[in-house]
Amino acid sequence: MAKFRIRGSQPLQGEIEVSGSKNAALPILAAALLSESPSTIHNVPDLLDVRTMLMVLESLGVKVERIGGRSYTIYPGFLKLIEPPYELIRKMRASFLVTGPLLSRFGRAQVPLPGGCAIGSRPIDLHLKGFSHLGVEVSMRSGYIEGWARELHGGEVYLDFPSVGATENVMMLAATIPEETVIANAAREPEVVDLAHFLSLMGAEIEGAGTDTIVVRGSKHLKGCEYRIMNDRIEAGTFCVASAITRGKVTVKGVDYAFLGSILTKLEEIGVRIEKLEEDKIFVAMEGRPKATNIKTMPYPGFPTDMQAQFMALLCLADGVSVITETVFESRFAHVGELERMGAKVQVEGRSAVVVGVEKLTGTEVTATDLRAGAALVLAALAAEGITEVNGVTHVDRGYERLEEKLASLGASIERISD
Ligand code: EPZ
Repeated sequence: MAKFRIRGSQPLQGEIEVSGSKNAALPILAAALLSESPSTIHNVPDLLDVRTMLMVLESLGVKVERIGGRSYTIYPGFLKLIEPPYELIRKMRASFLVTGPLLSRFGRAQVPLPGGCAIGSRPIDLHLKGFSHLGVEVSMRSGYIEGWARELHGGEVYLDFPSVGATENVMMLAATIPEETVIANAAREPEVVDLAHFLSLMGAEIEGAGTDTIVVRGSKHLKGCEYRIMNDRIEAGTFCVASAITRGKVTVKGVDYAFLGSILTKLEEIGVRIEKLEEDKIFVAMEGRPKATNIKTMPYPGFPTDMQAQFMALLCLADGVSVITETVFESRFAHVGELERMGAKVQVEGRSAVVVGVEKLTGTEVTATDLRAGAALVLAALAAEGITEVNGVTHVDRGYERLEEKLASLGASIERISD
């Protein structure tokens, strides 16, 4: 398994450009299946998870053509009603997002249960409940979900939790149903809004995306379209923390300032200097030691769970005690043990972690167990004294494009060591 070797404590300096959003690209690639005609999608990040989603589409008979570095044309006319391979669904839970489009196109779908992962059990009950309100009979058969609809119809879907995936899957199914569908307690994430923009370009009428109530009036004849994916707000936030934790001076380019609200607020509480330079550029600088603060992850627009691990790495070096509460996933503290190996002082109590700031972290060998835990370990290594080897960078490659190249361009001493 490849690893990163990082020599810490150089302040990062320079300008870094953010790539396309992983969590917008994955649902939009799935949504391209909703029409017979092809769609061309730009600014698609080159990530392991994106490659997995493209393999899922191809496993369903769909033709995928890479027409440039970050652009793909998807030919869904070739879509067949076959079961996506368990191996791909298991590898990436977001593959389950093809279920809504399969039900839309064929009125039926048989998809392996995605199963859990390092950050929690990851159920799909809200996806299935949403489908059933639109006329889908859902049954579970030894590890598979079978969906079948005699007649799809509009309806009212209430999500017990504002699940991003469930909102996206139900919105995609509703996009081909002419009657009105209302999704209440919907997820408000910017990536949900990006998907809604794509579906509207295909011909669906969607109101309220970005609020907790989304109203969809679909069409039986959606058309392929051309679309540019939004940039990745979590990658942008990760680079902001990279500047702060190394007491650097970094300009992050390609950000949508409006989507970074809670992240920038927390950085300023910690004492980080943030300057908005231009429409899509921010300057992030840190002198001195970070201040302690408390963080509670919440659905958007609250503090994003996908930034929790990265902020924990920063707060490990704070002057004081911070409390981090993870309310979205039930076990997203796998990075704690590895940070402790670097000298961090963190006590996990249920869904909260008490972080007692230390003066310094020390390089050693650590292992990433999930995507954002891996990012946190890279950040800690950038600030630590000495050399850190981060194993399991395959997890990091799932969500960060050429991370070592981007960090090296800011002056980090980081190299990828392949086995
Ligand atoms: C999306 O995952 C993101 N992934 C995650 O990013 C992100 O952490 C998460 O939303 C929350 O923002 C993609 O967009 C591809 P959820 P998703 O459904 O859709 C529970 C990353 O690091 N739940 O909003 O799977 C679930 O167990 C990844 O980029 C149900 O109970 O998240 C969890 O506790 C990690 N039943 C909570 O809701 C359901 O049917 C949030 O899950 C669905 C979810």
